[in-house]
Amino acid sequence: MIATVRGAHRLSGEIRLPGDKSISHRALILGSLATGRSRLRGLSKGGDVQSTASCMRALGVELDGSVLVGRGVDGLRAPAGPLDCGNSGTTMRLLAGLLAAQRFESELTGDESLSRRPMDRVVEPLGRMGAHASFPPLRVGGTRPLRGIEFEMQLASAQVKSAVLLAGLYAEGVTAVVEPVKTRDHTELMLAAMGADVGVEDLKVEVRRTAALEPLDLDIPGDFSSAAFWIAASGLIASSRVRLIGVGVNPTRTAFADFLASVGFQIRRSDPRFEGGEPVADLEVGDVLLHRPLQVHGSAVAQMIDELPVLAVVATQLPGTSVIAGASELRVKESDRLAAMAEGLAAMGADITVHEDGWIIKGPRDLEGARVRSLGDHRVAMALAVAALVADGTTEIEDAECVEISYPGFFDQLEYLC
Ligand code: S3P
Repeated sequence: MIATVRGAHRLSGEIRLPGDKSISHRALILGSLATGRSRLRGLSKGGDVQSTASCMRALGVELDGSVLVGRGVDGLRAPAGPLDCGNSGTTMRLLAGLLAAQRFESELTGDESLSRRPMDRVVEPLGRMGAHASFPPLRVGGTRPLRGIEFEMQLASAQVKSAVLLAGLYAEGVTAVVEPVKTRDHTELMLAAMGADVGVEDLKVEVRRTAALEPLDLDIPGDFSSAAFWIAASGLIASSRVRLIGVGVNPTRTAFADFLASVGFQIRRSDPRFEGGEPVADLEVGDVLLHRPLQVHGSAVAQMIDELPVLAVVATQLPGTSVIAGASELRVKESDRLAAMAEGLAAMGADITVHEDGWIIKGPRDLEGARVRSLGDHRVAMALAVAALVADGTTEIEDAECVEISYPGFFDQLEYLC
């Protein structure tokens, strides 16, 4: 599908975001291990979370709407065939950890994009725990018991951390993960809420073998990474008034908002509350005075990894030279996001240079509508849609149906806000 997006003069309205994708994956996986029924309201309906749901069903789990019947920590059934993780790295990596600890062997497959993505980052620590884990194709499990390890992660990855912690639920002794920077902590929070023996101290997370987990009763907050597109768009388009209802504002997810604040965005939070142990608020972007460029590197990169494509769009409108560095992880996402965003934004008239590990973007530049490629990557498609709203004229985004991976209804909400 080609999405046609015209430049907008003002965005206004009130919207709810899809359920947080990271929390939805974890709720399905951990709920499956609980003893009894979990209630998971507001699960993401996106393709990635559906991939996790269908894998859990293939492992014997019943899921009907928001009700999931857990099979207990030791109750998963051997799947009849390979588990299809679709486009979802989170599904594949988290399930690799969980399934490495099962008595049966599983094979995990995915689409062309996922098949290209690195899996040695989970295979290696799981192997150190004594698990059978090999790639490609990704095959895990069949040997037990596992042993706890202390894993000093070189790479900042919540997926890898979570994979090792899931295997740690079945391992002898203590399993500890030490992160180079703090990444999203939904797995630790959810495990603690379910009664697992989990401890967090600074950058170290520890878990012990767990015999039983309590079921979940969750209202899943709106996805901050989806909200990021509207935060950016409503800040860049003068006199916009967009209210984002019920957005998850876990501090391990909101570095993007802090960076935008530092260059002149005013992002107001109201009605702060907790849902399922996670902080939630309504968000609104006030008047913006963009006064300086962005400098992003180091730990900030990992803390807003999914927001970097739309951050590049923001940088095209900032005065001066923005530098986003240390972001080579973007090359191994659903697409090579460094190349994809540079191509799309350059076609629209941005002054953007792509480097091995980031971009240099000079602004402000007036953007113009163009025909651009999403490369089938949901976040690239949505970031380019934000650029299109800011641009003069009409932009055509190729393969735009990929937004369904994380944000079904994205283009309907775009139309509603315009
Ligand atoms: C995620 C972690 C991040 C992120 C992805 C979701 C998660 O990946 O990019 O969209 O839910 O744990 P990495 O762990 O590869 O950084």
